Amino acid sequence: MKRIAVLASGRGSNFQAVIDAIASGKIPAACVVLITDNPGAYAIERAGKAGIPVKIIDFASFPTREAYEQALLAAMEEARADLYVLAGYMRILGSEVVRAFPGKMVNIHPALLPSFTGLHAQRQAVLHGVKVAGCTVHFVDDSLDGGPIILQKCVPVMDDDGEDDLADRILEQEHIAFPEAIRLFCENRLEIVGRKVRVRK
Ligand code: GAR
Repeated sequence: MKRIAVLASGRGSNFQAVIDAIASGKIPAACVVLITDNPGAYAIERAGKAGIPVKIIDFASFPTREAYEQALLAAMEEARADLYVLAGYMRILGSEVVRAFPGKMVNIHPALLPSFTGLHAQRQAVLHGVKVAGCTVHFVDDSLDGGPIILQKCVPVMDDDGEDDLADRILEQEHIAFPEAIRLFCENRLEIVGRKVRVRK
């Protein structure tokens, strides 16, 4: 049974999808901690309901970015997780943190990477006028949203879509894609080969 640590900053609907997939036996893992940088995150309530311990590393309470990163790193090491899951964690992780867990950290991004990295990916997609959008689950490396891709799901973009319409349509797919990718990891079926992720049968 794998140990999963989740990092989330806000609403936590992807975190909930992971909690539900664990509860129903789809992901062979235990979620050992929720780590959040935001004391007001709704993800904290979700953890409470699921009996998952919460560690708040409040960015605003640290004198420097370095001090925050050290506290975060310590909390992550303490979790002794097999996999660190970024479920709407809205801060860029420093390279020391990223390098501490090579091949052991995954992120979900609401765009078909490598298009539309960073913040407001769905807004970027609408403004650009793309006809297809989606979400990407990928391993985290030193680059911004650039690590090896595990899986992607796509959705159509309608002519009169606003940012929120598209975000809702993508989010439905996120809730399918993220648990699926985490399940594959927990079943030891993912292999990183250069930029590619091979999925073993
Ligand atoms: C999700 O759409 C996720 O893909 C996105 O934030 C949202 C979090 O929602 N993440 C990023 O944009 C990361 N750059 P949630 O808190 O309900 O899971």
